[in-house]
Amino acid sequence: MSADFVALDRYIDRQIEAVPGYFGHAEWAAIDALGRWQVEQGIAGNLAEIGVHHGKLFFILALLRQAGERALAIDLFEDDALNTGIHANRDRAFFDNCTKLGIDLGDRDVWKVDTLTVTPDAMRERIGGVRMISVDGGHDYANIVHDLGLADAVLADDGVMMVHDFFGIGWPDVSVAAIHFLTERAERLQPFLITQYKLFVARPAAAERYRTMLASTPRLRGASLSDRLMFGKPITLFKLGRREALERRIKRKLGFYPKRL
Ligand SMILES: C[S@@+](CC[C@H](N)C(=O)[O-])C[C@H]1O[C@@H](n2cnc3c(N)ncnc32)[C@H](O)[C@@H]1O
Repeated sequence: MSADFVALDRYIDRQIEAVPGYFGHAEWAAIDALGRWQVEQGIAGNLAEIGVHHGKLFFILALLRQAGERALAIDLFEDDALNTGIHANRDRAFFDNCTKLGIDLGDRDVWKVDTLTVTPDAMRERIGGVRMISVDGGHDYANIVHDLGLADAVLADDGVMMVHDFFGIGWPDVSVAAIHFLTERAERLQPFLITQYKLFVARPAAAERYRTMLASTPRLRGASLSDRLMFGKPITLFKLGRREALERRIKRKLGFYPKRL
């Protein structure tokens, strides 16, 4: 029986634009394609995000869940010092959005915690092996190194780790910390995909399989994919096709996407 992605289709096609967040169409197209492909390939595991804000990316992970899989949201929520102004309401907005989207989370699926206090063992105990994990919590050097360590501790052999803001000009230490971390763990972790905001990383044995899938999946037909080198290894650079970008822009102008969930 094929997986049911009706709610995910609705979220990606119509609702995602209504959730404030910090990434764009190229990222959600890539995450959606990778996550569904994992399911088609029988790659099972939990899904998690460190730093969920109002849930924009986390909801993709939650909607990718299959029977027996959990999605874990980790955040300081309203305790974060940056929870002010347009970035405020993290606690309320996240839970309101879950309700509006019909996303059901168990008690152990939301972890309000400062990740700097979380050990790799505690992370493993909380979520076990993950097939997808997004690292988008604290953006300073110490936080990035620490959170990447937590993600590495739970990443399954064929899982995918996403490092947000690796290429973001506003957060130079994200790049520095991630480069140091990935250089040190090059035998365990290999970047395989670059999008505008994120670096996607897998275990070295799985990285080339993901690159092959990206080049051949009909879901990303029309995308602009090219090969680059990073840390001396091949990596895919992914940009949206002009047609998709234009279509989205026109639909936005025509009010196709509701402004609120
Ligand atoms: C950039 S936002 C995340 C955006 C979200 N991933 C999205 O797709 O829209 C960063 C989040 O990390 C959380 N955060 C920052 N430092 C943290 C820490 N030390 N532990 C846990 N969460 C943290 C903040 O509360 C905030 O919600």
